[in-house]
Amino acid sequence: MSARTPIIIDTDPGIDDAIALAMALFDDRLDVRLITTAAGNVDVAKTTDNALKLLEFWGLDVPVAVGAARPLVREPQYETAVHGVSGMEGYAFPAPDRSQLLPETAVEAMHRQLQASAEPVTIVCLAPMTNLALLLREHPEDQDRIARVVFMGGSTQRGNKGVLSEFNVHADPEAADIVLRSGLPLVMLPLDAGWRALVYPEDSARIRELNETGAMIHGLLSRYRGIGLRNGLKMYDGCAIAYLLEPNLFTMQEAPVVVELDGKYTSGATLVDFRGYLGIDANVSVATDVDASGFTELLLNRIDACRRESGVG
Ligand code: RIB
Ligand code: CA
Repeated sequence: MSARTPIIIDTDPGIDDAIALAMALFDDRLDVRLITTAAGNVDVAKTTDNALKLLEFWGLDVPVAVGAARPLVREPQYETAVHGVSGMEGYAFPAPDRSQLLPETAVEAMHRQLQASAEPVTIVCLAPMTNLALLLREHPEDQDRIARVVFMGGSTQRGNKGVLSEFNVHADPEAADIVLRSGLPLVMLPLDAGWRALVYPEDSARIRELNETGAMIHGLLSRYRGIGLRNGLKMYDGCAIAYLLEPNLFTMQEAPVVVELDGKYTSGATLVDFRGYLGIDANVSVATDVDASGFTELLLNRIDACRRESGVG
């Protein structure tokens, strides 16, 4: 078996984040070294609790560090209409044990992991990229310890938070700008991928029967307001993990990508310049399509692999 890829997951659980974590945490191809939490779908206290709830559900002791409570510049914006007030409505998790949290901030925990790792680490961003931007600003020496950044964010077309802006980038466009201009190897899973990586009612029914994790995820899906289960729920964050596991499911194109910071109506818009209008070099590998049935098969396979301490998944 090839070596496991060391990764750090920055996340704002968040129902689709929870599913992405299920996909990652029981796969032998990935070595999840650290989970850092971000303000995004809900406030960082709740996203942190939700990360702990999930790890305790599975009985996993992956270290968790609390991230920034707000974007670099702008006021926080939350998505409780989509994920519920707690950020993970639909399943009654016990209150988490916060004593398990690392004492340091997300930035310092990332820094320590990157410096201690024998090999460069992949950073997986499933949330507004505030924590990663802060790391790059406070620890530029870590840049060569990062293998690449795989992020769910942006759109090559229209938005889901602003007319032209996707939520993760919309919430902290200055952070996204720092990452996009960093020179790091970047892989972007925009809305375009999630729009095709859908879970339908029949998929959710199959998921429920897989194991206890499937039953929990089915409960979350019943409350996820990604435009409603009947039309297919969008597995935005799951696309980032699916890319790490099976990149051949995705159609990728290198392109220059910039983010608008000053537009009165367009801040947070990602301009993916496939035709070279901006006259700048490509800086991102962008997913323009995904094998939808292959994604669904991978999703169910990964949920089926989930195990709880009691051993029944
Ligand atoms: O736009 C989708 C992204 O915003 C996903 O990461 C979802 O969890 C929310 O954070
Ligand atoms: Ca997310």
